[in-house]
Amino acid sequence: MELFDYSSSVWLQSFCNTFCFMFFSFTILFCLFSLLIFVMRLKPWCQCDVCRSYLKMSWLKDFNNLCDWYTHLLAKSPTGTIHLHVLGNTITSNPENVEYILKTRFDNYPKGKPFSEILGDLLGRGIFNVDDDSWRFQRKMASLELRTVDVKMYAFDLVTAEIRSRLIPLLSSLAGHEHKILDLQDVFRRFSFDTVCRFSFGLDPGCLKLNLPLSKFATAFDLASKLSAERALGPSPIVWKIKRLLNIGSEKQLKEAIKLVNELAEKMIHQRRKMGFSNKNDLLSRFMASIDDEKYLRDIVVSFLLAGRDTVASGLTSFFWLLSQHPEVESAIRNESDKIMGPDDHQDLVSFQQLGEMHYLNAAVYESMRLFPPVQFDSKFAQEDDVLPDGTCIRKGTRVTYHPYAMGRMERIWGLDCLEFKPERWLRNGRFVPENPFRYPVFQAGRRVCLGKEMALVEMKTVALSVVRNFNIRVKYPHQSPRFAPGLTATVRGGLPVMVQEVC
Ligand code: HEM
Ligand SMILES: *[C@@H]1O[C@H](CO)[C@@H](O)[C@H](O)[C@H]1NC(C)=O
Repeated sequence: MELFDYSSSVWLQSFCNTFCFMFFSFTILFCLFSLLIFVMRLKPWCQCDVCRSYLKMSWLKDFNNLCDWYTHLLAKSPTGTIHLHVLGNTITSNPENVEYILKTRFDNYPKGKPFSEILGDLLGRGIFNVDDDSWRFQRKMASLELRTVDVKMYAFDLVTAEIRSRLIPLLSSLAGHEHKILDLQDVFRRFSFDTVCRFSFGLDPGCLKLNLPLSKFATAFDLASKLSAERALGPSPIVWKIKRLLNIGSEKQLKEAIKLVNELAEKMIHQRRKMGFSNKNDLLSRFMASIDDEKYLRDIVVSFLLAGRDTVASGLTSFFWLLSQHPEVESAIRNESDKIMGPDDHQDLVSFQQLGEMHYLNAAVYESMRLFPPVQFDSKFAQEDDVLPDGTCIRKGTRVTYHPYAMGRMERIWGLDCLEFKPERWLRNGRFVPENPFRYPVFQAGRRVCLGKEMALVEMKTVALSVVRNFNIRVKYPHQSPRFAPGLTATVRGGLPVMVQEVC
């Protein structure tokens, strides 16, 4: 027996050795091959100023954020377009190019494989991450669902309930305590996570309860989207693919986080099924009525979580940072709401109809996302060789990026005062006038424009207004301009620490 065991373990060991050897040789060959392709397609040796500055990160001397450096380069370029050779990435701030990419030749600029691979493990076949038929199907279904008045009222009611039962009590509990510092960005992330989960699943994670509990789901979701986004930072996908193959480091962490997200999402789907969904309004119930495939349902809903959570929180965070620099805008928002809602009872929440009459508030929210769009840039991949309207040649396979952050800061689009926060620029005779969406692609534009735009605006305006009417928010470091952490949506490093006072 013993002998047998011994020999079998020797056999096993030599098998393992051979296998490991083959495995590593394969990996190394794979690396070399991919590296070769990578080197041939891009130009990692490029010596132009821009590429050198990118590789040495010397732009950090002059700019806080990568997006600020890109803005500077795009403003200098006569066409409003630049090309980063080392990344094989064409970046544009030219509205005509944007219209061309997102509408005129939409079919030539899909999200493409490199992008869907990066987010594929987290998002699966969800709407965010697919092209062609699968996208068309989900887009059609989701837009039918999201366009009904019903669903808008449902979303508004959810937001209002969260404000009344959690946001206001939380801020009140801190008001008047000068030494108590609150991270407003964290509060908004909790707020939007609760709301988007209730909207998507009909279930409440309760992240914004008074004791600010840790939510396993939110934490796993955060980690998974952060690590997925970091895959895109490396100059080549080979590195993360190898790490994934070997299941080491950040890829191991990512795998675990996604596993947790999946388990929790599946639990929610089961729970939802048990509760019955015939007269429920949440998105999951609506999709469940016509889709049976559990994995597909999970993918669809996870895309919505990603789409609707960090974006809204990011928009609100920069809104309050800008407001702290512009007390006159805060005062004008209060005046408008007093006129429409009556000056007396600040506790009363705004109605859906009143919200629609607040042109100044709407302008202020648009204006703040012009300077600080939650999605700072967005990339597509060219399927065929092409020429953009400004004459830029695009080779097949090139990554083509439009840059809402830079576009909001272009003199040629917004005039000499483009860097100033001025809600009035959106008003004519006191009425809000929308801008051409290809000049303001904050919600993307064209065929794949954001499906949650209206909902996001209603949510942002309702939250902003009830905070402004009830509290004075004092930002702790008002003169520190935002530094962003890398990620899919703009997140401020260190959050937004504030002190809260009740309005008398
Ligand atoms: C201020 C908040 C928001 C901003 C700035 C924003 C912006 C965007 C952008 C830029 C895209 C295009 C992304 C891409 O294709 O790569 C997008 C797509 C999308 N958004 Fe939003 N979004 C916001 C809020 C929301 C909310 C609250 C929801 C849903 C509840 C939502 C649902 C979606 C969906 C489903 C798509 C995919 C559309 C498609 O691929 O056809 N968004 N959004
Ligand atoms: C708001 O109303 C007050 C009092 O009527 C006024 O003093 C203030 O200038 C107004 N603020 C703005 C920005 O219009």
